[in-house]
Amino acid sequence: MENHNHGEGCENVYLPQIAVITDIIEETKKIKRFILHYEDKSLHDKFVFDGQFFEITAFGVGEIAISIPFSPSLKDSFEFVIKKAGKVTEAIHNMKVGDKVGLRGPFGKGFPYEEFKKKDVIIVGSGVGLAPVRTMIVRILENREDFGKVVVIGSAMTYEDLIYKDDLISWNKVEDVRVLYALSNPTDRVEAHVGYINDLLPDLGLNWENTAAIICASPRRIKAVAKDLLKLGMKGTDIYTSLETHMRCGIGKCGHCKVGSKYMCVDGPVFNYNEMLELPPEF
Ligand SMILES: Cc1cc2nc3c(=O)[nH]c(=O)nc-3n(C[C@H](O)[C@H](O)[C@H](O)COP(=O)(O)OP(=O)(O)OC[C@H]3O[C@@H](n4cnc5c(N)ncnc54)[C@H](O)[C@@H]3O)c2cc1C
Ligand code: FES
Repeated sequence: MENHNHGEGCENVYLPQIAVITDIIEETKKIKRFILHYEDKSLHDKFVFDGQFFEITAFGVGEIAISIPFSPSLKDSFEFVIKKAGKVTEAIHNMKVGDKVGLRGPFGKGFPYEEFKKKDVIIVGSGVGLAPVRTMIVRILENREDFGKVVVIGSAMTYEDLIYKDDLISWNKVEDVRVLYALSNPTDRVEAHVGYINDLLPDLGLNWENTAAIICASPRRIKAVAKDLLKLGMKGTDIYTSLETHMRCGIGKCGHCKVGSKYMCVDGPVFNYNEMLELPPEF
């Protein structure tokens, strides 16, 4: 796999490019959004948007895989949403504006944007799972006329645990776009269904035989939602997800991410539901 943004003459795919943090937004108690740009700003002109995640280095601590939540229209900067989970994510959470990280990527197979055209679309993001699906939501809304009805479901324990709250509110104002919330605990901030995502599906009024879906949640919840979507008339090949596993190189070399016969970093992390069912049962 090529590493597109490393510039001519620089062939070391393990060498990160330096990026400078320009803004940090606290999304929830455990999740922060980082806005950053390459220190060498000319790299943004050469950047080719064809992947699903980056490898981000906290120097001296380690490197982690983080999804792309932005669309190709973001030209001079990047943003990433990072949940505090362990040592590398904690080190990034402790960073301040002006601090530097390393970036390698983009890597992996992204969502098949072209295949979603002319279809109704349902996109479900649970917790930090709204980050990997946001890339498609933004892109679809930037080209609204190419798609049918659009439904976005944000799911979390509480309203405060949702990321991109302002986006969810503004997307709901776009014609023929519905944003729904499935929360475990009620809130007075938005009208929300208290319970499972699945409960919302039967009343969405989508043309299920011509609908494409993306679900980013725990594997258990993905399967539960997908089963109901199949019952409503969808095909497994029209239901997509982006899966997470432990990764290192991100480019199909180290074998760290191998699950069954698949290298999650190059064969995925995006899979359709039929492909997901061929993976070992933990997925
Ligand atoms: C393709 C891909 C995209 C991702 N996108 C995002 C994103 O947009 N935002 C985000 O916050 N996180 C994302 N993750 C998860 C992120 O990579 C892990 O949270 C991170 O590697 C944890 O590193 P750490 O050193 O902080 O924690 P560690 O100290 O390594 O681990 C802390 C805990 O998290 C678990 N863990 C570590 N890595 C993973 C992983 N990859 N999947 C599941 N559990 C893990 C460990 O088992 C342990 O229980 C993504 C992962 C992948 C593979
Ligand atoms: S992370 Fe190294 S092969 Fe996938």
